[in-house]
Amino acid sequence: MSDTTVDPKQYIIKSEPYYESVGDEVALYEAAYNARMPVMLKGPTGCGKSRFVEYMAHKLGKPLITVACNEDMTASDLVGRFLLDKDGTKWQDGPLTTAARIGAICYLDEVVEARQDTTVVIHPLTDHRRTLPLDKRGELIEAHPDFQLVISYNPGYQSLMKDLKQSTKQRFGGMDFDYPLEETETAIVSKESGVDSETAGKLVQIAHRARNLKGHGLDEGISTRLLVYAGQLIGKGVEPIAACKMTMVTPLTDDPDMRDTLDAAVQTFFG
Ligand SMILES: Nc1ncnc2c1ncn2[C@@H]1O[C@H](COP(=O)(O)OP(=O)(O)OP(=O)(O)O)[C@@H](O)[C@H]1O
Ligand SMILES: [Mg+2]
Repeated sequence: MSDTTVDPKQYIIKSEPYYESVGDEVALYEAAYNARMPVMLKGPTGCGKSRFVEYMAHKLGKPLITVACNEDMTASDLVGRFLLDKDGTKWQDGPLTTAARIGAICYLDEVVEARQDTTVVIHPLTDHRRTLPLDKRGELIEAHPDFQLVISYNPGYQSLMKDLKQSTKQRFGGMDFDYPLEETETAIVSKESGVDSETAGKLVQIAHRARNLKGHGLDEGISTRLLVYAGQLIGKGVEPIAACKMTMVTPLTDDPDMRDTLDAAVQTFFG
């Protein structure tokens, strides 16, 4: 038992998140959830992974607990720790423990960022054991039947130093995500930002050009998220070239030549 009680309802997503399906991902994820299979979502930044998990949690009617991982994160940050208060010591569950107790979908975002000694705490939860040992507390939690673990990572950032161990990777079913096809992405940008589909279509075209520069001077292409930002500024009355510069050029690169190239692509469509 935890020393604090958590109401699962606080983690239920009340209204349906807008998610434009891009393939068979909804059915595949549902099947994985029904098997309580841990799932790994791979794909570039801003392509819809988090939105997809929110949509699926809502569709399945399950609570969702999201944890943004970083390299300073310790196992205790996930599992929990003793806290001192005026009445003495009190155990505080971490988000992973809460999710395992209440039967939530636990989404560990950018899990590669966490150190490997942190990541291994998920191992007993992601195989037939479905348990979580709270060593400091001497408690072994059996995961709630509805509990499922989902992790995301951006394959672009992988390096020899930062990667998941095979013994971690091979506990998950994997799903590849990428920027949606032109027509779908145009619909998303239009719906999310409120710009008309002609303007959204131009933003998507610019992104396509920039995405071809990935690996040729750009580390990442322009994400769907940035296209939505551009649309939002245009919707607020910002002149399109200025809006594109702020959202689709400046954040992406400091290299003057690359900026010129991107500016030229913007000019082609909005000049
Ligand atoms: N299929 C989609 N349906 C609806 N909106 C989408 C979709 N794909 C992307 N978006 C839009 O793009 C934005 C960014 O998506 P999201 O936050 O899910 O990216 P992500 O893949 O989780 O990125 P990161 O790896 O940086 O966390 C969303 O807020 C949404 O506006
Ligand atoms: Mg995300």
